[in-house]
Amino acid sequence: MHKFDFKNQTAVITGGAQGFGLDIAKKFLESGCKVFIWDIDEKLLKTVAKEIDNFNLNYHVIDVSDYAKIKKIVDEITNKYKIDILINNAGITGPTAPLWEYDVEKWNKIVQINLMGTFNCCRAIVPNMISNNYGRIVNVASVAGKDGNANASAYSAAKAGTIGLTKSLGKELADKNIAVNVVTPAGAKTRILDQMSIEHVQRMLSKVPRGRFLEIHEFTSLICWLSSNENTFSTAAVFDISGGRSTY
Ligand SMILES: NC(=O)c1ccc[n+]([C@@H]2O[C@H](COP(=O)([O-])OP(=O)(O)OC[C@H]3O[C@@H](n4cnc5c(N)ncnc54)[C@H](O)[C@@H]3O)[C@@H](O)[C@H]2O)c1
Repeated sequence: MHKFDFKNQTAVITGGAQGFGLDIAKKFLESGCKVFIWDIDEKLLKTVAKEIDNFNLNYHVIDVSDYAKIKKIVDEITNKYKIDILINNAGITGPTAPLWEYDVEKWNKIVQINLMGTFNCCRAIVPNMISNNYGRIVNVASVAGKDGNANASAYSAAKAGTIGLTKSLGKELADKNIAVNVVTPAGAKTRILDQMSIEHVQRMLSKVPRGRFLEIHEFTSLICWLSSNENTFSTAAVFDISGGRSTY
């Protein structure tokens, strides 16, 4: 992969204990970035930190739906560092069910984590980026937010909300050196797939003209460019990585 230079930069990656987030964290670390991974899974965070064993890696146990905790941690970090990069990646799909049978609390939780989590992190971190006149924010939505997946109404709605939030915030920050973009991946083999039925996953895959799952490293490639100082113009934009499924 093309090498990016993230030396002397600081990144926050939510949902960074596994899957997409962890791969992004590893790439950033390789390129000299200081990385804070935030995840709700404390056990996994500890294991990953031990395995990676890099002084530039820090972690916090954070539920992205908890704004007060996020604000407290951001204040601690920004006392020492400026935050250059924010990857809003934490997410859950929730169970597969038609809307009229969906558990109301679960529906709400999916929106709280996927959409409100993105809002909470942006709300807490953007002021620091504004004062430094630099920032790269990448929000991780899904092709579900463009197309709407049947039996995944909460997830589709939350990811569509994330796309709308990105377009709005990107414009609010466009006169500053801060880029805000959103990516819409198709299915990749991470643990998130375990939350959905096998039939649902097969249905998603059958819609992808490439005829296969997205590889995690292919996703990380796109995130690296969007997060880098090479991206000096693109903002408020939706970057598709769905193997041809959604061509808009
Ligand atoms: N893998 C796919 O097929 C796919 C497709 C489209 C979009 N996405 C999106 O990509 C992102 C990453 O997913 P992944 O595939 O790597 O999944 P994953 O399940 O491997 O990783 C998600 C991480 O988020 C963490 N997390 C969950 N709830 C949290 C919370 N409340 N606060 C903080 N952390 C929390 C989990 O502990 C986990 O470590 C998600 O936003 C997901 O919706 C994934």
